[in-house]
Amino acid sequence: MEKWYSIRMRASEGGPHEKGGRHISGAERIIKEKELEQIAANMIKRALTHSRGEPDFISLKVDKIEQEAVHIISPITIQKIDNKGQDETKAVLKKLLAPLPLKEEVLFFLYDWMIEDDQTRGAIIVDIHSGKRIDNQGLRGVRVSHFDWDKSFQEKWIQNKKDFHNERRLEAVALASKVAKAGTICELCCSDDPEYTTGYVTFQHTYVQIPNMKKKDVPRGGRVFLVDASTIDLDAYMNFLEKTPVLIGGSK
Ligand code: COA
Repeated sequence: MEKWYSIRMRASEGGPHEKGGRHISGAERIIKEKELEQIAANMIKRALTHSRGEPDFISLKVDKIEQEAVHIISPITIQKIDNKGQDETKAVLKKLLAPLPLKEEVLFFLYDWMIEDDQTRGAIIVDIHSGKRIDNQGLRGVRVSHFDWDKSFQEKWIQNKKDFHNERRLEAVALASKVAKAGTICELCCSDDPEYTTGYVTFQHTYVQIPNMKKKDVPRGGRVFLVDASTIDLDAYMNFLEKTPVLIGGSK
């Protein structure tokens, strides 16, 4: 039986993340034993050569995973819509998300929060009916981890998708696929990268790329997971997002 591993790297400058160090780079994979040495070396190299700076702290964690524990899931469907400028984004979101039981004031409140967030490290979980945050994770939020693409599946998947040949988008689709699989009704996402203004929403198992989610040169952004608080098992939901190993496509 093949052995599987979760391997995770994070690098920071000015000490470890936990002691206030500035994040330089992070990466994770779910791989087989024979790939471990090579991927570990690649990750260290990636940490040492990142454009954001030179780290003085690198963490590399390797955890064995039971083969049966790995969930294989399909990627969500992807779609792109037009959005001429950030002043039209709210109207675009309102129209797009009209099929959901989400009040306009809740949607707009969450949107305004998301594009200005510079505090919360992970995502916040919000009840789709009341608009209230329910995760009790404070500024930590919920960080989706333990997911990866099956690389040969990914190669075929991107063939006819010219917008998805960069790592950032591929990572976003993998993450959004795991988030949707967990039972999330809708995900809203806006990067905190000042150069990168394209965001996305995921609902009804479709990832919709939205240009001009925020204005350029704004170093803020956030992530919201909308769920039905009356039916979700919050602990199981968060555990799945943070800890359950999920592979997009492929086979064991
Ligand atoms: N950005 C900034 N800080 C981060 C971070 C990130 N991406 N990931 C972790 N940290 C910091 C936080 O301070 C965190 O403390 P917190 O949980 O109180 O917020 C601390 O590091 C420890 O986090 P932990 O979850 O224990 O880290 P880890 O060693 O397990 O590594 C990463 C997690 C870095 C691999 C993961 O967060 C990540 O960034 N993954 C990248 C996703 C990805 O590339 N997926 C590819 C699949 S296609």
